[in-house]
Amino acid sequence: MAAVEPKVVFILGGGPRIGHAVARKFSTQGYKVAIGRRNTDKSELDGVLPVFVDLIKPETIEEAFREVESKLGVPNVVVYNAAALTFPPENDPFGVEPAAFTRDLAVNVDGAYAALHHATRLARRHSVSPLVFIATGNVTPFQPHPLAVTLGSGKSALAHLISLGTAAYDAKEFRFHFASQVTDNGGPVPYPDVSGELHGEVYWKLANEERFGWDVRFAVGPDGSPNFTS
Ligand SMILES: NC(=O)c1ccc[n+]([C@@H]2O[C@H](COP(=O)([O-])OP(=O)(O)OC[C@H]3O[C@@H](n4cnc5c(N)ncnc54)[C@H](OP(=O)(O)O)[C@@H]3O)[C@@H](O)[C@H]2O)c1
Repeated sequence: MAAVEPKVVFILGGGPRIGHAVARKFSTQGYKVAIGRRNTDKSELDGVLPVFVDLIKPETIEEAFREVESKLGVPNVVVYNAAALTFPPENDPFGVEPAAFTRDLAVNVDGAYAALHHATRLARRHSVSPLVFIATGNVTPFQPHPLAVTLGSGKSALAHLISLGTAAYDAKEFRFHFASQVTDNGGPVPYPDVSGELHGEVYWKLANEERFGWDVRFAVGPDGSPNFTS
């Protein structure tokens, strides 16, 4: 009997921009889609399952995976999109209060680790392969910026996890990507220029094509399609 191909994407930390655009892309391609966030009433997209999760509370992450599994099936694509940032005083990155640093890192790293843990255990238990895990990145691990002291510390650790997952596991079982929109010259993208639709296009390619490494950087191409720079 032929294996049934799972088509379930779970987006953790999905809001109106990247989260919803990725959800729409996968949904129009026939995927079942779940969006995890705290304000589930704000994710009323057609055909999308809103799932409560607070990424600073690990028990809610495990519970959210259970809910997605029972209502939609085992995810074969998982997107970790949430991030937290506390701006320090200008030119004083270590002026951020330690409690704020800890809180931001819980979203930027601890929640991502829990998602990696549960997504891989679940896929293994149900022989779902490949599992494609995509973390929404940015250039802070490669180009540190003092204003991004909590965000960059978190993204650096997240990039580390994604790269070590790539090295440790067979790509036939698990694929991991740290996907970052960049400017034409490889720099950080100003917040208003981040394109949800472009992320949707890129994440769809990552889910379906094996040619990409763990560090995926892309800019807006001349025709609006992704221009991959790494
Ligand atoms: N490439 C670049 O240069 C660049 C630039 C800007 C942003 N980014 C990245 O893009 C991502 C965000 O994308 P976006 O702004 O388009 O976001 P989005 O998908 O519009 O929304 C993200 C959602 O995450 C949810 N969230 C936040 N904290 C959470 C928590 N503790 N638990 C559960 N959910 C949580 C929020 O919903 P609730 O409030 O309902 O929980 C929020 O709506 C981040 O990873 C960020 O670092 C990259």
